[in-house]
Amino acid sequence: MAIQWFPGHMHSTRKAIAERIKDIDVVIELLDARLPGSSANPLLAELTGHKPSVKVLNKQDVADPARTPLWLDWYNARAETRAIGLDASEPAPARRLIEACHQLAPQRGGMAKPMRVLICGIPNVGKSTLINTLSDKRQAKTGDEAGITKLEQRITLADDFYLWDTPGMLWPRITIEESGYKLAASGAVGRNAYDEEEVALELLAYLKRHYAGLLEARYRLGLSDEAIAALHDEELLEAIARKRGAVMSGGRVNLQKGAELVMTDLRSAVLGRVTLETPAEFEVWRAAAEVKEAERAAKKAARKGR
Ligand code: G4P
Repeated sequence: MAIQWFPGHMHSTRKAIAERIKDIDVVIELLDARLPGSSANPLLAELTGHKPSVKVLNKQDVADPARTPLWLDWYNARAETRAIGLDASEPAPARRLIEACHQLAPQRGGMAKPMRVLICGIPNVGKSTLINTLSDKRQAKTGDEAGITKLEQRITLADDFYLWDTPGMLWPRITIEESGYKLAASGAVGRNAYDEEEVALELLAYLKRHYAGLLEARYRLGLSDEAIAALHDEELLEAIARKRGAVMSGGRVNLQKGAELVMTDLRSAVLGRVTLETPAEFEVWRAAAEVKEAERAAKKAARKGR
């Protein structure tokens, strides 16, 4: 499936990050704890990859608590990287963020050498919520300071700790197909960019294998985990839609409505705490996408050479 969207502020945000990054000590990337691999922006890795990085697995309250530690270990195994799990209920997230940054850039601190941090993430990952909690009453907008584009906002977390905010940014072509589906299901992608039924079917294909118990608890299909896993994705969507009353006149099931219901339930966590990928799965998808991309590039080169 092609998920296509207009990447909005992508170009201006990209430019702003490229300019700002020179004076940055640590980059905080907010990830969705329900898709910690797929929500990492490869464009951002390109722009900021050389800087120490704090990976915040946000919304951990709605992610699978058994899987979040796997992802924290996966990111913590990287050089110059600290990963922490966070959610909106954390009373004072600043302390842990500040600590992680100081561990990564111990040479910074004090009024003469304040810590300079850039915070980034895909849309809807919870960045505004976190920034609001962080900024409290200390927030200082410095959009008219020389060299700072209007796109950015500086927040003073402590007298020697500055945080620059950036607009949520996606990337134009998602090469890992599974990531496209998961980003769409999570709500990171505008709804005009994908087919809801298709995304819901992919989502159910994953959920029925890994979270059949949660599907049963929510939709009361009267089926065992094995029976749910054995259903075709379309059958499962139809059963859910019927159960939730998404039926049109004449008794036909409204699959579009069913798809919307399933995705709303995922996003609001009514379905329960799920994580749509493990590090091992993500690595397999990524490797397959790399092979596909290499083939694509080779074909393109061959066409040009003709
Ligand atoms: P953004 O700036 O990155 O685009 O994200 P924003 O803060 O606007 O948050 C997007 C949605 O995610 C909001 O829900 C917000 O409440 C929710 N959210 C943020 N942090 C957390 C978290 O740690 N846990 C959970 N469970 N949800 C979080 P919304 O439905 O779009 O709006 P509303 O419910 O706040 O009205």
